[in-house]
Amino acid sequence: MGRVGWVGATAIRAALLAGRARVLVGGSEVMTADAARTLRDSLGCFATGVAVVTAAREGGVAFGMTVNSFTALSLDPPLVLWNVQRSSECLADFDAATHYAVNVLRAEQQALAARYTRKSEHDLDPEDGIAGVTDCPVLVDSLACFECVFRERHSGGDHIILVGEVLHHHHSAGEPLLFYSGRYGRLALIPHESA
Ligand SMILES: Cc1cc2nc3c(=O)[nH]c(=O)nc-3n(C[C@H](O)[C@H](O)[C@H](O)COP(=O)(O)O)c2cc1C
Repeated sequence: MGRVGWVGATAIRAALLAGRARVLVGGSEVMTADAARTLRDSLGCFATGVAVVTAAREGGVAFGMTVNSFTALSLDPPLVLWNVQRSSECLADFDAATHYAVNVLRAEQQALAARYTRKSEHDLDPEDGIAGVTDCPVLVDSLACFECVFRERHSGGDHIILVGEVLHHHHSAGEPLLFYSGRYGRLALIPHESA
């Protein structure tokens, strides 16, 4: 499909209905599989970095989850946010945690990204993690790391938005791992314009 201009809310609603973007299932409205797929495809055009969010469960076991919803929110106070699916088996553990760390992955760390997307395999491998400055578990060799204290939780549809205040951060030289259109990638920087 090509570019869509402003056609007005009524026309958009009519188009959505014609395309049956939502259907009734068991009395509640849900998105059709087609509508969900095309929305994912459109959202996937927005290239992001990739991070593993790490935290400790009650009892101290460290765990991690791969995310690309990490966003800078505020410089002063220093706030960041990311989103977790309501259906995630990690949600209760993140809810119970007081701190988390966002570990931004290097281009060479695709295997780590894949490792922490697996259901029921979120426990941190001992060789992947260490205690950070705030005692929160962190990955040993990330491109950048933000250790945060949980500040706010907001409802965001089928996700929960988790806002954290950055207590400690560091970064080092290297290239980020990217995620675009369902695939991992790496940077191709555009050269500075020559005079
Ligand atoms: C590149 C990438 C980014 C992801 N970003 C998020 C995210 O921001 N929030 C989220 O809840 N899940 C995200 N996921 C899915 C989780 O990593 C993981 O697959 C999912 O949580 C597994 O289900 P579980 O949490 O029930 O174990 C992402 C997966 C990939 C591959």
